[in-house]
Amino acid sequence: MQNNPQHFVPEGNFLKGKTILVTGAGDGLGKAAALAYARHGATIILLGRTTAKLEAVYDAIVAAGGAEPIIHPMDLASASEEDYRVLGQNVEEQCGHLDGLVHCAAVLGPRAPIQFFPHESWLKVMQVNVNAAFALSKALLPALQAAPSASVIFTSSSVGRKGRAYWGAYSVSKFATEGLMQVLADELRQTSRIRVNSIDPGGTRTNMRKEAYPAEDPLQLPTPEDRMPLYLYLMSEASADVTGEALKA
Ligand SMILES: NC(=O)c1ccc[n+]([C@@H]2O[C@H](COP(=O)([O-])OP(=O)(O)OC[C@H]3O[C@@H](n4cnc5c(N)ncnc54)[C@H](OP(=O)(O)O)[C@@H]3O)[C@@H](O)[C@H]2O)c1
Repeated sequence: MQNNPQHFVPEGNFLKGKTILVTGAGDGLGKAAALAYARHGATIILLGRTTAKLEAVYDAIVAAGGAEPIIHPMDLASASEEDYRVLGQNVEEQCGHLDGLVHCAAVLGPRAPIQFFPHESWLKVMQVNVNAAFALSKALLPALQAAPSASVIFTSSSVGRKGRAYWGAYSVSKFATEGLMQVLADELRQTSRIRVNSIDPGGTRTNMRKEAYPAEDPLQLPTPEDRMPLYLYLMSEASADVTGEALKA
């Protein structure tokens, strides 16, 4: 294995026997993460909004000879506390424990000055990008604690580390994502074998990037697959002692 996390090259089936839940698993970086983890032997719980997209990822994993995934459609904009409780209970009952939780689902929302930022859009971005990640992490902690060691990965952004005009709710939501990562990492550092970190993937060829930069040539951008070494690194034993860190692809 190489030591540089950005160029991490894992051993073949290093995730065999592990169960990893990925949000936003139907598209973009979440889809690439689900496929990459499955390729290395993990059983994936595919969580996302659009069932047809999750089914396509399911089919791709099975066709590639991966372990049969579990599909869990969930709209993070409207899910209730009870929905999260049931998910946590199902994961414990069906899988026994959870080795990894990867937060990729997010929405961009409008780009507008704070003075004119639509109130409802602000609340929705916060709901999907922050509140849902809190609720999901909370509900899945018992299953994560039941694993011999576990990794929680939040997906952040450069605008979650330095504010940018007009990126309003999205930028603020990514600051909150970093905050949630730090608080959870600090809580779990001494008391568990769960590590918690964030990744800023950098500009990547996905639908969200296209929405943010419509005039850009997507072919000039790295693909979601190009961003996978860090996601694999944080799921590997090479990162066993890494927690509370904000990594950048
Ligand atoms: N691409 C970049 O350049 C870039 C840069 C920095 C950070 N990021 C971050 O990377 C992560 C992945 O984004 P991406 O670029 O891969 O974008 P993407 O292709 O648009 O993927 C976003 C995913 O989130 C899901 N999602 C959105 N709203 C949801 C909801 N209400 N409930 C459940 N799932 C929902 C989407 O599901 P549907 O497909 O069903 O809508 C989709 O699978 C995000 O956290 C983003 O902020 C991306």
